[in-house]
Amino acid sequence: MEEQLTIPKHVGIIMDGNGRWAIQHGLTRSQGHRAGADNLKKLCIHMKEVGVSYISLYAFSTENFKREKKEVKFLMDLFVTLFTKEFQTILDQNIKVVFSGRRDPLPKKVLDAMDVISSRSSECDGCVLNICLNYGGQSEIVDMVKKTCLLYQQGKVSLDEIDTNYVQANLYQNLPPLDLVIRTSGECRISNFMLYQSSYTEFYFVKTYFPDFSESAFDQAILEFNQRTRKFGG
Ligand code: FPP
Repeated sequence: MEEQLTIPKHVGIIMDGNGRWAIQHGLTRSQGHRAGADNLKKLCIHMKEVGVSYISLYAFSTENFKREKKEVKFLMDLFVTLFTKEFQTILDQNIKVVFSGRRDPLPKKVLDAMDVISSRSSECDGCVLNICLNYGGQSEIVDMVKKTCLLYQQGKVSLDEIDTNYVQANLYQNLPPLDLVIRTSGECRISNFMLYQSSYTEFYFVKTYFPDFSESAFDQAILEFNQRTRKFGG
């Protein structure tokens, strides 16, 4: 990519369309998720290489538990395989993996796999990959409020200390605001993804299904991002 482009510091991706991609190719939904997972590994490495410092991926929403049991099981097993066996390429790139979301009711094998990859990558400082798993943006705010109420009751935080910096630092992860959120598959919704962090984000909605959202498709999003005038309310 051209050097003078502004690269967003924090990019979020709502990886939508695995199921429709599978139908289009006469495959099962599981095969669609598998193709999505293969794509995301390539994409993360590319994003890091072009200079993105923080990547947030919407892997599984709290609402996704409502899907068919078979699909939920497939996704849980896929997460285990990725975090225990397939994320070596991510570690080789010096990418630190962190998670956002509620641990309950994720199966123990998934939690263990998440803990393994978090601890194996804890010293990495090339880029942060934040995986939103059993995640909901509204629940994230609720959990931050509850945590703050407890700290307040215990006298560990005062009202004066609570400002936007405090809130950012007390969400699931202390990440900078999102500069760019990409949603694949043509849907133009935020679907409960990082509500607080996306206050001033630029949205990029693209028709491509996630398994086909290639490195060059990402570069296209960066070009579009560079056409936008960011105003931050000013
Ligand atoms: C949405 O497509 C996709 C998901 C709910 C799962 C995303 C998961 C992956 C890409 C696998 C691995 C991810 C990580 C970060 C470890 P959809 O099934 O809703 O597609 P559809 O709307 O076409 O049915």
